[in-house]
Amino acid sequence: MTKQIHLAAHFPGVNNTTVWSDPEAGSHIEFSSFVHLAQTAERAKFDFFFLAEGLRLREQGGQIYDLDVVGRPDTFTVLAALAAVTERLGLTGTINSTFNEPYEVARQFASLDHLSAGRAGWNVVTSWDAFTGENFRRGGYLPAEDRYVRAKRFLETAAELFDSWRDGDVLADKETGRFLARDDAGAFERHDSQFDIKGRFNVPRSPQGRPVILQAGDSDEGREFAAATADAIFTRHGTKEAGQEFYRDVKGRLARYGRQHSDLVVLPAATFVLGDTDAEAQELADVVRHQQVSGQTAIKFLEQLWNRDLSEYDPDGPLPEVDPLVGENTIARGRASVRMYRDPLATAKQWRELAEAKNLSIRELIIEVTGRQNFVGAPNTVAESINDLVQADACDGFILVPHVTPGGLDPFADKVVPLLQERGVFRTEYSGETLRDHLGLKAPKSF
Ligand SMILES: Cc1cc2nc3c(=O)[nH]c(=O)nc-3n(C[C@H](O)[C@H](O)[C@H](O)COP(=O)(O)O)c2cc1C
Repeated sequence: MTKQIHLAAHFPGVNNTTVWSDPEAGSHIEFSSFVHLAQTAERAKFDFFFLAEGLRLREQGGQIYDLDVVGRPDTFTVLAALAAVTERLGLTGTINSTFNEPYEVARQFASLDHLSAGRAGWNVVTSWDAFTGENFRRGGYLPAEDRYVRAKRFLETAAELFDSWRDGDVLADKETGRFLARDDAGAFERHDSQFDIKGRFNVPRSPQGRPVILQAGDSDEGREFAAATADAIFTRHGTKEAGQEFYRDVKGRLARYGRQHSDLVVLPAATFVLGDTDAEAQELADVVRHQQVSGQTAIKFLEQLWNRDLSEYDPDGPLPEVDPLVGENTIARGRASVRMYRDPLATAKQWRELAEAKNLSIRELIIEVTGRQNFVGAPNTVAESINDLVQADACDGFILVPHVTPGGLDPFADKVVPLLQERGVFRTEYSGETLRDHLGLKAPKSF
């Protein structure tokens, strides 16, 4: 059976995907930028708009890392405001379970689901570092091995809160002057290793009952957590082989939790560069890559793996002869990529071999190993590749990250989406009202 593709639009936060120097590049803070991307996504009938989360300004070598986009407004405030200027588009935010409390987060998502008439989505992340934790009351809390324990309990508790109101609980009965039909509406009680709370939840049941749950962890525990609880996964595995392996792995875990293949939607992040012809797009992609990885950025990336000050090195010269410093990463703080290098010595060895084989400078190597453009080509080529990956079960669709904010999605909406629609693999109109409808998901399961 031909699968239908799911598409989402990622508003880039702190990252180096964004090309600032492009004359079209705009603000990452002003509301008009959020509105532009969201309305483009809705015009193109995308499933949802997506915000990642970073809770502390990144630092490198003790200074603010200002080669990335710096700063980020609050997720709930942005999504609630977008609910007023969109009608069908899902509104998904990344909110971590490590530093928040379930009562507060459940209130915020239930409220967003009400305000948006059933379009809220929650990407539950555990967050990665004690550096971010210093912003919060607990400071540095939790050790990595406890984060998924808390995440699981957090989600169960939030679900209990969402479910503490049932459909049909009457809000106000003018004749009797009573506001609740059920005496125990909102009642909850939770005592476990993470939470010791009870009371009454004060947001009545929202249109979706609960927000759609996304998950982004990639470890074994992360995948298991997703298989047990998530409606969708946000992943980095966007190529065919890696995607198929990941897809098989996570879908294969569902049966353990009494779930079916279609209960979990797999969505890798993906970037794209379009041109009138494939050759033009390739040329443009090369320009974009060089804009994304300046000489300075290349040295900073290398420092993140080497865990050393490499500011004296020439980005157009060869890799350092010294090896990475193994142990706690003291150079880069608050960056995801630091966690991705689980074995820095092995990665450095691979990079050296690659640089030698292809005669690459530091900058050229970083451009190669941090390759970001998943789809490069004329609109037809890009539409074909996207459809091929989805039909080959490498994924169920993509969360697209444009390299220009806020207008970078426009050419995709105008040129690629119609080709997917012509092929009958992407909707021409929304058929449902809620985000759950767009993703083809059944009613929320209990966990
Ligand atoms: C594709 C992807 C996107 C993520 N996005 C965020 C994010 O926006 N904010 C955040 O705090 N953590 C984010 N995370 C981190 C995860 O929540 C998790 O803390 C991290 O991946 C470590 O868990 P793991 O060992 O299971 O991968 C992301 C992870 C992945 C794989």
